[in-house]
Amino acid sequence: MITKKMEQALNDQINAEFYSAYLYLSMVAYFESLSLSGFANWMRVQTQEETTHAMKIYDFINERGGRVTLKALAEPPAEWKSPLDAFKAAYKHEQLITARINDLVNLAIREKDHATNAFLQWFVNEQVEEETSVDKVARELKMAEDAPGAMLMIDRELAGRVFTPPAPQGE
Ligand code: FEO
Repeated sequence: MITKKMEQALNDQINAEFYSAYLYLSMVAYFESLSLSGFANWMRVQTQEETTHAMKIYDFINERGGRVTLKALAEPPAEWKSPLDAFKAAYKHEQLITARINDLVNLAIREKDHATNAFLQWFVNEQVEEETSVDKVARELKMAEDAPGAMLMIDRELAGRVFTPPAPQGE
């Protein structure tokens, strides 16, 4: 069983993960509008990942005898100044998500909820990867500034990203 406070905080995180999916889906549309299909593919995979994050929490709340409640999603931005600007925004967003996960861990510790704390450790590790992968592309874009050829090379590289569903918890 989880406490009402923990249940509420996890429900809020479901919303934050679905918002992440929504934000990246908006970036897919932005990159498609620039005919950068590799960037769009990368963000599409990111959107799929965020949906699995939300569903992981959704399933966990149910498993622990809690009640999932879905809230309205905020409207994401639709435009960015450049691909670099979009990736910088994505990086900033991931840092925000990391802070939220840390807050959830702190709450689980305060509530003496070891099961939720253990569950959240997957997200702690995932956030390291999330920040690194977004930052890597942002750095490549920074180096490619004023070099359209380099931009197309990155686009080709990002076209190869494939969605891999995360392994079930504990594996
Ligand atoms: Fe679900 Fe990108 O954090």
